[in-house]
Amino acid sequence: MTKAVLTPDEINFFKSEGYLIRKGALPQSDCKTAVDRMWESSPDFLKRDDPSTWRPIPADEGSDDPLLTKRDTRWQYRSVGTEKWLLDLAYSQKIVGWAEQLLGKDTLRIPEPGGKPMGSWGPAWPGGPVDPQMTEGVRGIYATLPSEATDPLDDHLHTDGHPFHLGVVCLLEDNPPNGGGFKVWPGSHRRFYPLFPMQYDQTRVPFYEHLPSHKGIIHPQEYLDEIQRVEADTQPVDCHGEAGDLVFWHHRMGHMAGYNTAEPKTIRQALLYDFCKVSLDEERLEGPQPDMWRDWAIR
Ligand SMILES: [Fe+2]
Repeated sequence: MTKAVLTPDEINFFKSEGYLIRKGALPQSDCKTAVDRMWESSPDFLKRDDPSTWRPIPADEGSDDPLLTKRDTRWQYRSVGTEKWLLDLAYSQKIVGWAEQLLGKDTLRIPEPGGKPMGSWGPAWPGGPVDPQMTEGVRGIYATLPSEATDPLDDHLHTDGHPFHLGVVCLLEDNPPNGGGFKVWPGSHRRFYPLFPMQYDQTRVPFYEHLPSHKGIIHPQEYLDEIQRVEADTQPVDCHGEAGDLVFWHHRMGHMAGYNTAEPKTIRQALLYDFCKVSLDEERLEGPQPDMWRDWAIR
């Protein structure tokens, strides 16, 4: 039985390590409902009951539609991200209770059922990624298909460029080690937090057609140098688990979507979303604070 609240040890772990795994956040039956819906959006060649078809998406079967992206090992269903049934899962009393323990009671932005999902606005700049802040619900259901075995040296972290407070990855099916689960570099949130001009955003240069040389995210050199150090001195953690298990992660956490190389083959099915406080729009104007937990309820 999952405890109702985060314990002081769990909160201290989150502050120190930048992530926290909570088992049994969602009932298995709800996970199955979500995966059933996911399969309604699958590429034609992919058969749910035939693992021999579980492989990267060929270019001619892919889609760059930001509301339903199918490319290589990524199958990302975003248009479902503001449907009420899915928001009811993501913003259940239990999960919101934990998020409020971390960020403060009645501080969270509430999603809008039937609102515009992530992807509705297209990519953040031509050829760029879709901005996860641009949603009135969750990011969506993201699947990672199996790929060939990879070298650990192929693991490279990033931090997300959009402003938010608390990330969530919730597994919707059992996910074994090396099965494409969420990979984090523990403690890196404390090292990356001070290195940006603003405490939530990363500096973004707008794209203009008549000024084509520059666009997208500009990273401070201190941050790029620190990435090298973190990748060299920190062993990443593969957050695998069972359907319904959830990972909370700090917005400056170094992470990547892990490669899915597990045998027997599996598809990593997960619900991704961000918790943001209503006050984010004021807090994001400021630079990094001497106390990086100033905006949190766990100082
Ligand atoms: Fe990311």
